[in-house]
Amino acid sequence: MKRTIAGVMNWGAWGAKLHKDDLKELITSCIEGGVKTFDHADIYGGYTTEKDWGEAWGELDIPREQVEVISKCAICIPCDERPHYNIKHYNHSSQHIIESVHRSIENLQCDYLDEVLIHRPSPLMDPQEIGTAIEKLKKERLIRRCGVSNFTISQMELLRTELEIHSNQIEISLDHMDGMHDGTIDYCMTHGIEVQAWSPLGGGTLFKPSSDVRIVKLRSRLNQVAEKYGWTLDQMAYLFLLHHPARIRPVTGSSKWARIKVAAEAEDISISDEQWYEIWTAAQGNEVP
Ligand SMILES: NC(=O)c1ccc[n+]([C@@H]2O[C@H](COP(=O)([O-])OP(=O)(O)OC[C@H]3O[C@@H](n4cnc5c(N)ncnc54)[C@H](OP(=O)(O)O)[C@@H]3O)[C@@H](O)[C@H]2O)c1
Repeated sequence: MKRTIAGVMNWGAWGAKLHKDDLKELITSCIEGGVKTFDHADIYGGYTTEKDWGEAWGELDIPREQVEVISKCAICIPCDERPHYNIKHYNHSSQHIIESVHRSIENLQCDYLDEVLIHRPSPLMDPQEIGTAIEKLKKERLIRRCGVSNFTISQMELLRTELEIHSNQIEISLDHMDGMHDGTIDYCMTHGIEVQAWSPLGGGTLFKPSSDVRIVKLRSRLNQVAEKYGWTLDQMAYLFLLHHPARIRPVTGSSKWARIKVAAEAEDISISDEQWYEIWTAAQGNEVP
């Protein structure tokens, strides 16, 4: 199985609005290409994308154990599907986590989640509340593991007083390297916590037309390195993440197999530490001290 995780955020109403047959084709291509982990969240598509994906998955004759399904909970967004929310907020209560996981499993038609992620930290989160929910869901075999997303070191430490954290899904890309500098990734490596990188292409920043001078300069520097080695820009962005000793798992955002495949195939290419520093230097705009 590939390290690459197929992120589903842009496949539905928030992005490509893929129809059932296209979703079936994309899910099948991912699995055949070795990308067998799918990253969802209850909120994607305004609480509609899990259901769309589940309806497609439900019609495919693929054994459940062949894939890994991740979903997230704890963000509450007022929208057509949740008109009772007054304001965007977080809910880390046991009841909300349990209800959310039940709903995700039903929508995704997947019997259980391989991993549930607490989508965002909150000043109001009580580790005991979260721990109680996770223990119950594990006992009922509705989840295999629990992870977090966008958590700092102290927030991970707080949660680890009550439960085991399998992964932290954080934003990492050539345009966003905070986790490499603020100790988050070091902490994950120290404690065997898997690092998943969301927006590995900066949410498309590396490609979308932009008049922002910083972005234009960044792309120009990165393209010079990519051209030197005959890499495409997206390939180089994945190589940069994959070379890191934390064995980072990129969470792709594309709704096109041809682009997701670039990440999966980059796993079979190795680069030298010097090449990694060339990419790093181009991304930072200055050499290492
Ligand atoms: N945990 C969190 O808080 C969190 C937050 C955000 C996202 N996520 C997860 O991370 C996943 C990825 O996030 P992301 O969508 O921001 O990822 P991304 O891969 O950085 O950006 C995806 C965007 O880049 C475009 N793109 C990809 N390859 C391209 C290429 N070669 N040329 C031009 N455009 C290209 C895609 O367009 P096309 O679709 O047209 O290819 C899409 O618009 C999401 O699906 C979600 O699962 C998690």
